Amino acid sequence: MTDILTIRGDQPLKGQCAVPGDKSISHRAVIFGSIAEGRTCIRNFLDGHDCRATIGIMRALGVSIDEINDTQLEIHGVGLDGLQEPDNVLDCDNSGTTMRLMAGLLAGQTFMSVLNGTGQIRGRPMGRIVDPLRTMNARIFGRQNGKYAPLTIAPSRLNAIEYPMPIASAQVKSCLLLAGLYAHGLTIVRQPGPARDHTERMLGAMGAPVTVLGNTIHSERPQTPLQPLDITIPGDISSAAFLLVAASAQPDSKLTIVNVGINSTRTGIVDALIEMGADILRKDRSLQGGEPLASLVVSGGGLRGTQFGGERIVTMIDELPVLAVAATQAQGRTVVRDAQELRVKETDRIATTVSELKKMGAQIQETADGFIVDGPTQLSGTVVDSHGDHRLAMALAVASLIAKGETTIYNAHVTADSFPGFESTLRALNVDVQETDGTKKND
Ligand code: S3P
Repeated sequence: MTDILTIRGDQPLKGQCAVPGDKSISHRAVIFGSIAEGRTCIRNFLDGHDCRATIGIMRALGVSIDEINDTQLEIHGVGLDGLQEPDNVLDCDNSGTTMRLMAGLLAGQTFMSVLNGTGQIRGRPMGRIVDPLRTMNARIFGRQNGKYAPLTIAPSRLNAIEYPMPIASAQVKSCLLLAGLYAHGLTIVRQPGPARDHTERMLGAMGAPVTVLGNTIHSERPQTPLQPLDITIPGDISSAAFLLVAASAQPDSKLTIVNVGINSTRTGIVDALIEMGADILRKDRSLQGGEPLASLVVSGGGLRGTQFGGERIVTMIDELPVLAVAATQAQGRTVVRDAQELRVKETDRIATTVSELKKMGAQIQETADGFIVDGPTQLSGTVVDSHGDHRLAMALAVASLIAKGETTIYNAHVTADSFPGFESTLRALNVDVQETDGTKKND
């Protein structure tokens, strides 16, 4: 397995590229297409580990999914009541989106199921979905009274609830909206901030009675079958973010990333970089399957320290590790607060980002709910570790491109969780990236 990346510093990005399909939208297209009636066609599907786990589970629930090629799928949807009892434990691998959305889908079924995954995911909080699902009358069980997976779900008849979500989480929202499709009555979810809205858009486009009123979303059992999808998934803004930062932070860069999803619940990173002084233009706007797209044109230049917090944090939550890298190159102090959710991602991303960037010489301090970075700093190439976290691995690759000297990143195979072809995309932009087999334990 290619597990070690070696990247030489001082490499500006030049040229044009695309990024793989959006991870959040790919998961949803497979799950929702499976419970539609008829044939769903998906193009530009993200062929990454997390989305593969979702395909595996839908197949285990009796759905036939044809792979036309790596990024094109045909799903033979079985309808809302067509899923079958799986004959084994359902493996979510390392994917939080898979586990939390599947729990919502499975809670109202007439059969029993068990969701499990890697050690990393068994350590992530599931009480945030188990508690409201239980209020809906779901019979869902997990370790420590439902706080952690494995999750066991027994058949039950769900009742709708009105639920004010304590945290702005698209996974929790989507879990409850899916359960709402099987519940008696009108499920009402109130979110404290603009968590990504792909579920509402896609289910709405399929004819489900899912309605949005500001930060309140309703869902109920459809009276007619869900319509199948014919969708080309937009490029993932969360993957584009690594290239945007790498280009913004190096004066000689000039890069165009084509066909990137620019749904406003996801573009916090673009707005943040522009606020820091980055030169990013949106061109060739279009709409595909209810999601807006554009080409992003970015030129390198001077960045300045800025403060980020409040409601907007949810719109850039996955991009904060790479925003920390941008902050190391910004003039002055950058402060990120209200981002405590980072502590319960694939790793505690506040702790891992801070510890690894410090090894490269960054002036970065951990706070309870974020980090503070003083810049600009000349980062130095050294040996760092992804801690098995795909977004940290790629943030460190970006830091390596900016640094002086050579950086070695261990446990780097995880880039393929969300950005298969990350290394070859960099190479196509004339970046020198060496891949080597081997392993090293996290320190
Ligand atoms: C996701 C929602 C976010 C995000 C994750 C994908 C989704 O998680 O961090 O990468 O597809 O719904 P939370 O819902 O936990 O904030």
